[in-house]
Amino acid sequence: MRSFRLALLTSTCLATSYAYIWPSPMLDELESTLYEILPSAASTISAFIQPCDTFTGIALDDTTGLGTGRSNIADWVRTAYHDMATHNVADGTGGLDASIRFEEEQARAENVGNGFSNTINVLAGFSTRYTSIADTIALGLVFGVEFCGGPRVPFRGGRIDATEPNLPGVPEPEQTLDSHIASFARQGFTQEEMIGLVACGHTFGGVQHAPFHDIVPELNDSDNTASVAHFDTTDVHFDNNIATEYMAGTTKNPLVVGFNATTNSDKRIFGSDGNVTMRSFADSPKLFASRCSELFARMIDTVPKGVQLSEVITPLPVKPGRIEFTLDGDILQFTGDVRFWNLPSNPNRVALLLWSDHLGATHNSTLLPSLISTTDYPQGVATYYTLGAEDFSGISLDAKAGIVNMRFMLDGELQTQQDTEAGVDFAVQDAVVFSTSSCFFENNETARYNMAVRNTAKVKSVYIETEMRDSSSHIGVTETDFFSPDPNAPVNAAYTIWTLNVAGSGFNRYVGAEIDGVKYTVLQLLSLFALPSCTS
Ligand code: HEM
Ligand SMILES: *[C@@H]1O[C@H](CO)[C@@H](O)[C@H](O)[C@H]1NC(C)=O
Ligand SMILES: *[C@@H]1O[C@H](CO)[C@@H](O)[C@H](O)[C@H]1NC(C)=O
Ligand SMILES: *[C@@H]1O[C@H](CO)[C@@H](O)[C@H](O)[C@H]1NC(C)=O
Ligand SMILES: *[C@@H]1O[C@H](CO)[C@@H](O)[C@H](O)[C@H]1NC(C)=O
Ligand SMILES: *[C@@H]1O[C@H](CO)[C@@H](O)[C@H](O)[C@H]1NC(C)=O
Repeated sequence: MRSFRLALLTSTCLATSYAYIWPSPMLDELESTLYEILPSAASTISAFIQPCDTFTGIALDDTTGLGTGRSNIADWVRTAYHDMATHNVADGTGGLDASIRFEEEQARAENVGNGFSNTINVLAGFSTRYTSIADTIALGLVFGVEFCGGPRVPFRGGRIDATEPNLPGVPEPEQTLDSHIASFARQGFTQEEMIGLVACGHTFGGVQHAPFHDIVPELNDSDNTASVAHFDTTDVHFDNNIATEYMAGTTKNPLVVGFNATTNSDKRIFGSDGNVTMRSFADSPKLFASRCSELFARMIDTVPKGVQLSEVITPLPVKPGRIEFTLDGDILQFTGDVRFWNLPSNPNRVALLLWSDHLGATHNSTLLPSLISTTDYPQGVATYYTLGAEDFSGISLDAKAGIVNMRFMLDGELQTQQDTEAGVDFAVQDAVVFSTSSCFFENNETARYNMAVRNTAKVKSVYIETEMRDSSSHIGVTETDFFSPDPNAPVNAAYTIWTLNVAGSGFNRYVGAEIDGVKYTVLQLLSLFALPSCTS
């Protein structure tokens, strides 16, 4: 326990957010998104900002995306700000809630340009039933800043997608300094924080000609076909050049040295405290980075009243994964793996899984170093072990004994969950499990799903869950098609079979169950053809 406790000590003091106890479908998924990044993986958020000048959007006057002067990272950071900037601290409305995805909001003058639709097109695709689109917008900022030279921005999860547009309220460049101070105050930021937030945001990107032709002329540059006048000379890299160039008087920031004084909002904002904040940023890249980390975190954590965010998600020192149960006669087959974080290397390591069963006994089994070895970005190394035997078939449990919870032991030291001194076991659920008696009727292409329901468990219902994206990309889940106990199906002493015939299959369908008042997702429906034929 000793070596793994340190990492979480700092976050346990935050009383206003809820603690992260595994299993938690949303936090487990967000933690994996944040920390299980394979450098080669093409299907992660970071792939869209690596290299940092990647631009996958369709520019207004260029359909290739190459040489446009634009970048995903700049669009993403601006989108996070514009989504949040509708917040009103007085009544708690608005905030980072993905309301920017609605056409009605994008059509407002304050949201001119296609940067928002470009951003949503990419990031909403990473939303799931557990990760809201609003969380993906926040993740886009976190990844963008960190992968493009900036600090880690602490990430909390749990944003909720708005179901309709928010009231307008994003500041525009031709407005007065007083109105900008008032606008940021309404969003929950002081004048000094306003200067910081604008400087932190405008380290990326710039102003485009097409939506802002009164600010930026056509540049006639084949490497910058969208005619973007960048805020500093390193527009896809997080650094304090936005401040050093401003203080040195060499800046080409179009909102500072633009030909029309009315739209020089950065000039008015940056100078509004006599340059005190900007000078401190220019003097210290370190201060700039730490201040931006804090301010970006405040920005993405500005959410509508009633939305409760999690604690800052740090890597779990010990994280079970892919836990699955299958009932085969009297045997409950148990598979899965466990990930340890920043494990010191030890060729002679003895790694054990320990578990308690329903009859009060404890057992153990040696963990096998997994074939999937490590991920190494951003801040740590993940080491995986497989639960069970050499052939990866898992661990065979006696169905009656089953399993209640588990712990892990490394070289004689117990690894439990870290949130309390005593530690919390890793609870597992064997009340509703897949039965190998499930099969497939070839005559009508119907699957007969047999779920084994533990006789001693308080199972209220077993049903099909279907995930659907609505017209605004938000994923909802509906529950239909309830299973019923099958008195004729073969049973063992511990379980009863509940059954349902399901026509067709699909990646968006799952078996769910309500067990002791809590709803669990038990199983993703298999391809029909993965099931044995019912007649054979
Ligand atoms: C008074 C406040 C602000 C004003 C008036 C303002 C104004 C602007 C304008 C006119 C653009 C050009 C957009 C385009 O051409 O598509 C822009 C771009 C941008 N703004 Fe702001 N901004 C403000 C605050 C912020 C804040 C607080 C952030 C983030 C923390 C931010 C982040 C960005 C980014 C990243 C871009 C570049 C977008 C791109 O290149 O695609 N801005 N801003
Ligand atoms: C770009 O070309 C347009 C059209 O020929 C011209 O009006 C404009 O002045 C040029 N801009 C620059 C910065 O040279
Ligand atoms: C300067 O910008 C303001 C606000 O967009 C606009 O009303 C005005 O006509 C512009 N002035 C010039 C000289 O372009
Ligand atoms: C801030 O610094 C810039 C660059 O040196 C200068 O042009 C500007 O006048 C200063 N503004 C204030 C309010 O001191
Ligand atoms: C693991 O199980 C074996 C066999 O039952 C037992 O002798 C041993 O003490 C157990 N180890 C731990 C750490 O509980
Ligand atoms: C499919 O065929 C099987 C076996 O004939 C039958 O029991 C089942 O009810 C049929 N399913 C549907 C949806 O018709």
